[in-house]
Amino acid sequence: MVCLGNICRSPLAEGIMQHKIDSFGLEAEVDSAGFEAFHTGDAPDERAIKVARKNGIDILGYRARLFQQADFDRFDRIYVMDNKNYSDVMQVARNDSDRLKVDFILNALSPGRNDVLPDPYYGKISDFESVFDLLNQAADVIANKLQNGG
Ligand code: 4NP
Repeated sequence: MVCLGNICRSPLAEGIMQHKIDSFGLEAEVDSAGFEAFHTGDAPDERAIKVARKNGIDILGYRARLFQQADFDRFDRIYVMDNKNYSDVMQVARNDSDRLKVDFILNALSPGRNDVLPDPYYGKISDFESVFDLLNQAADVIANKLQNGG
């Protein structure tokens, strides 16, 4: 799960996906990362922590890190939130195999549309709630597909 700061959208995406993996009884590793070093090592934004907690998900212990080229070796799928994340990840990709792993997370809901999940950092708590709802729907589709072998 990749966003810019790794403190708002992608830690929420990681927490929600981990929750789906656990509740669906799947075997999968999920992590998140960003491209902006400003918050490296920080806990998620307190509004993200709060919205997650309200929904029974604990992301308090997550720490922001930068995306690395080695993440292409660690993970089968790389989900991005917006166009900037997409171009950031694509710039680090080494070959077609890496590039094929990358997709917009909201394509789980609207295949091929490349809809973006807006950055809530300068927004309100309601923006974090909208982000949570969309990520929750997307993660549900992804978990269902994983459960059905794809
Ligand atoms: P995120 O939001 O990409 O959803 O974690 C952001 C948080 C912080 C910054 C940018 C985006 N920042 O530049 O500090």
